[in-house]
Amino acid sequence: MGLAFEVGASVSYELQTHDEEGRISSQKETALPQVLSEAANFLSNPPDRTLPRKDSSRGCYRSKSPPVGHCEKKGQMADFMNYEQQSRARGWSLKGRVALVTGAAGGLGKAIVAELRQRGANVHGVDVSGEDLFHVDLSTPSGNRDMVAHVLATAGRLDILVLNAGCQFLAPLAQFPDAEWERLRSVMLDAPFYALKAAWPALTSSRGGRVIVTASVSSFSATPKKAAYTAAKHGVLGLVRVAALEGAAHGLTVNAVAPGWMDTGLMRGQVEAQAASRGLSADQVIAQFRAWQPGDRFIEVNEVAAVIGFLASPSASGVNGECVTIDLGASVG
Ligand SMILES: NC(=O)c1ccc[n+]([C@@H]2O[C@H](COP(=O)([O-])OP(=O)(O)OC[C@H]3O[C@@H](n4cnc5c(N)ncnc54)[C@H](O)[C@@H]3O)[C@@H](O)[C@H]2O)c1
Repeated sequence: MGLAFEVGASVSYELQTHDEEGRISSQKETALPQVLSEAANFLSNPPDRTLPRKDSSRGCYRSKSPPVGHCEKKGQMADFMNYEQQSRARGWSLKGRVALVTGAAGGLGKAIVAELRQRGANVHGVDVSGEDLFHVDLSTPSGNRDMVAHVLATAGRLDILVLNAGCQFLAPLAQFPDAEWERLRSVMLDAPFYALKAAWPALTSSRGGRVIVTASVSSFSATPKKAAYTAAKHGVLGLVRVAALEGAAHGLTVNAVAPGWMDTGLMRGQVEAQAASRGLSADQVIAQFRAWQPGDRFIEVNEVAAVIGFLASPSASGVNGECVTIDLGASVG
């Protein structure tokens, strides 16, 4: 990305960007009022490049190539950082993008919807119930097709697909009800397949389409009594990787996130079952979930939503077929 300033009665700048296929386009833009005054201030007090390079402990840049900020003149570093943040914000913006988020009534789903909206996307939420959402049962192939058709009919396009719906059931393998096996597999493995298939033409014709699947630390580790959940979460990573390879030629990226324990309905729903089977109180089970993660805390849904926001953004164009684990490091210990 290149940037050139023109200073006159106002400050305008020419922004050069590379699209997914490496083509360069430039556009002239006028800075926002506060950015304009910051930019003017920055330009009228250019950094003194004769100063020695600063030590990194003071948060200064060590690069010799311009623009180089320095710490001595109060305010200049702040101006510089604003300038940097402005460029970074452009890469993170989802303005003009249409997104679909499943499981949007749930703990993590709500946070994802909020994150994508904050970045400027037009977000369509899907769940079995919940206000201002498209209601559909994703355990059926037609439910997945209907939700994609609904978004395409409403918004005319689809750029970002977040497959986040999930559910849980615990039982020893030998007693695991067939219907629960079917339900968990349908929602967390079959549904992503049907949704991807239905959305593929739209996603591959979007410039820089994005798919993000909510996997789990159960995608690469196992827990007794979680046969269906563990199998579905393992399986969906295979789907993510195949879709990533097939989508790459179209500028589409397909990635997953693997959260650790978050305090949501899905977590709360299994506390009683675990407490009963292990002879513990609900509080003891919750304390154990937290203690599994370094820092002895739950992952905040916003922490996961922020990673999904990044993966959905233009900044993540080179990340494909990955699963980003968000568990405070629990699974590396
Ligand atoms: N909570 C955790 O500790 C944790 C950890 C790792 C991964 N995850 C994953 O995060 C995702 C979000 O879960 P959450 O923690 O927000 O739980 P949640 O129960 O709050 O949300 C899940 C949502 O999925 C929806 N859903 C379930 N079945 C559906 C169906 N058939 N059709 C449509 N929607 C359906 C539910 O209605 C609910 O709103 C899930 O994929 C889950 O497996 C959760």
